[in-house]
Amino acid sequence: MGLTGKKILIGISGSIAAYKIILLVRQLTQSDALVKVVMTKAAVDFVSPLVLSTLSRQKVLSDLSEGDAWANHVELGRWADLMVIAPLSCNTLAKMATGLCDNLLMAVYLSATCPVMVCPAMDEDMWHHPATRDNLKRLSSWGVQIVPVGNGSLASGLVGEGRMAEPEQIFDLIVSQVSLKSTGALQGKKVLVTAGPTYEPIDPVRFIGNHSSGKMGIALANELKTQGAEVHLILGPSTAPDPAGMQVVRVRTALEMFEATKAIFDECDIAVMTAAVADFRPAKPLESKYKKQAGKAPPIIELIENPDILAYCGKHKRADQISVGFALETNDAIKNAQKKLITKSANIIVLNSLQDKGAGFGVDTNKVTLLTDRQQIMPLALMSKPEVAKAIVNAINEYLT
Ligand code: C5P
Repeated sequence: MGLTGKKILIGISGSIAAYKIILLVRQLTQSDALVKVVMTKAAVDFVSPLVLSTLSRQKVLSDLSEGDAWANHVELGRWADLMVIAPLSCNTLAKMATGLCDNLLMAVYLSATCPVMVCPAMDEDMWHHPATRDNLKRLSSWGVQIVPVGNGSLASGLVGEGRMAEPEQIFDLIVSQVSLKSTGALQGKKVLVTAGPTYEPIDPVRFIGNHSSGKMGIALANELKTQGAEVHLILGPSTAPDPAGMQVVRVRTALEMFEATKAIFDECDIAVMTAAVADFRPAKPLESKYKKQAGKAPPIIELIENPDILAYCGKHKRADQISVGFALETNDAIKNAQKKLITKSANIIVLNSLQDKGAGFGVDTNKVTLLTDRQQIMPLALMSKPEVAKAIVNAINEYLT
């Protein structure tokens, strides 16, 4: 089953769905995984620690200290191959999104170095509340895997969205996540990712930019990290927070992104260029703010071309390096993407077509087609950006093997 000797840390927070975790823990130990359980105080009201300690064959922990003994949360967070918080209550979700550390489960989560998966469980109205939506988005942007909720009868007696995924489903996701990590070709590989827009100054207060949010690149960087890569993210001026667990270099202009890329490219095995780099920049940015004056004609801004960072990587890569680029096309999409494979000497091009609903800038979903220099063309379905990231990283994995 692929779980023998794998270390799974289960975090349980206060929700009626906690009783289902008994079945999950049993299935995990029967598959020879090593399981430790951490519970919040509220969770203890819903399910017996005695049952969980018997099934996991380990003492269940819920206090930061017990008598004169201190629970070493850092050690626990480093012990696990995967941390699964199920059920994830609204309260624990809000604490995770803000880094509030007032119990052992939160201390373990905040010091965990392994991938984290959460299985939300709540009433439908809580599930749809903007605070919940925002909190989940934050967690997702940090690389936490969110297991979708189900639709059905809820503890309140209502019927709707918010049911925790079933234990069998969670078990299957744990198996795929853990086996992915241990067998993936990306384990230990150094990967450079560029993401976000670039801003090209016109004067000290104005710039030429674009609508890129950096979400797709950050989702990719997180997925590469989850699959065992050492990630170096070069991030343009995106409002997204820096993702955790990787080296992040913040840049503003295309030239800064180019310099940061050249500084690290030789050491990297793979370069994934998701950034929406401005093709042109003002030739001579003004040193002080341009002011309008009655009777004075509007300025003419002379533009010069920026270096093409993906093409640079394509031209300078060794035989053991690969480069992956993105293409955003409005017409003749496949033909133009195929051309880009050649002109930029890329191994893989991820094609976004603006004609596809739900694809492109700003939105949380994407629909892409993957093209490789081995003449493969793989159209993917419309998915969330983290799911698209997983599919792209799986394709990179496959390309490597
Ligand atoms: O040529 P085009 O902008 O359509 O190519 C898109 C791909 O090239 C993306 O992967 C993007 O990150 C990369 N690119 C780059 N440097 C540029 C322009 C684009 O790395 N100056």
